[in-house]
Amino acid sequence: MKSLETTARPLADYQTLVPAALFERTVSAKRALGDRVMVLGHNYQRDEVIEHADFRGDSLLLAKLASEHSERSHVVFCGVHFMAETADILSRSNQTVILPDLAAGCSMADMAAIEQVDQCWETLARLVPVEEAVTPVVYVNSAAVLKAFCGEHGGITCTSSNARAVIEWAWGRREKILFFPDEHLGRNTANKMGVSREQMIVWDPYLPNGGHTAEVIRKARLILWKGHCSVHQMFKPAHVDYFRKQYPDGQVIVHPECHEEVVNRADLVGSTEFIIRTVRAAPPGTTWAVGTELNLVNRLKREQSDKRVFFLSSTVCQCATMFRIDAPHLCWAMENLADGHVVNHIVVPDDDKAWAKLALDRMMAIS
Ligand code: 13P
Ligand code: SF4
Repeated sequence: MKSLETTARPLADYQTLVPAALFERTVSAKRALGDRVMVLGHNYQRDEVIEHADFRGDSLLLAKLASEHSERSHVVFCGVHFMAETADILSRSNQTVILPDLAAGCSMADMAAIEQVDQCWETLARLVPVEEAVTPVVYVNSAAVLKAFCGEHGGITCTSSNARAVIEWAWGRREKILFFPDEHLGRNTANKMGVSREQMIVWDPYLPNGGHTAEVIRKARLILWKGHCSVHQMFKPAHVDYFRKQYPDGQVIVHPECHEEVVNRADLVGSTEFIIRTVRAAPPGTTWAVGTELNLVNRLKREQSDKRVFFLSSTVCQCATMFRIDAPHLCWAMENLADGHVVNHIVVPDDDKAWAKLALDRMMAIS
């Protein structure tokens, strides 16, 4: 496959096409590419994009698929930047990973910069022997360089579907965990494991010593980075209470990136894949309030028309960065690929790749 970006088709040509034309052209480009391409779609993608996906799923499932299908030389990743980076880290050297819009980031991933994590680690090292006492655990919603940091320091990655197993693994090796960048996934998982409040502290990267005294840091077992998802933080306990009043027999299912007050009021909590599987498997006539991204919930509502499926809040919006991948960007990436031009190629630098892969492999071994 050549990479002559100068002669690639311009994106602007696609932005005025009508949906039917975009659909037809994406289908023909995919057909022309045949087995050379694999389109992956995260559960939060819009319908106009996910309908072209060979596989859809949560972060863990998509990461596994990218590594299992080495026969596909091109992976078009309809998701966000950290997911495409993960696919690049886990894929073979003959594979290229494409993210249809490079602006599809993740606000949570942006809440931990490597300089801040390095500084935190140095601060901890002044108080405890970090390499023997602290396991860094990074949620996959993070830049590749942070995964590399974990690989290099004896740490590991986790996703929303294996956080508990990862935390158990980490505590089995060292007495403390530095968990970043989502404080909620860390706290909700620890709450379910019966970890007491006194054992957890929140590390604010903008305060000296994360906002704590040396004594408090020495006592903590779980150091939670002050970071969150801008979408999931919008779900409030009042949304659950309101739903319960309207539908006393209904069930509430939420993603673990929600605040603990929401998670503690919910009946079930889990990854996007868990949420979809659970509602699909529920008996007809059951009623559900779902606390995760809007595209996923709307699709579930349509697919599961024999059940009543509600979005947990009427005011929360979709994930703005996932939403950046649209039909024009996908069609543009696919047609260029069919012409022999790789656009928006995601490449993790080799140094980071090796360490990040180690952290991901440790996770895969226990997932
Ligand atoms: P899942 O791993 O559950 O798909 O979640 C990814 C994500 O970004 C949730 O906001
Ligand atoms: Fe990131 Fe939140 Fe969007 Fe997930 S929903 S990709 S955590 S901003």
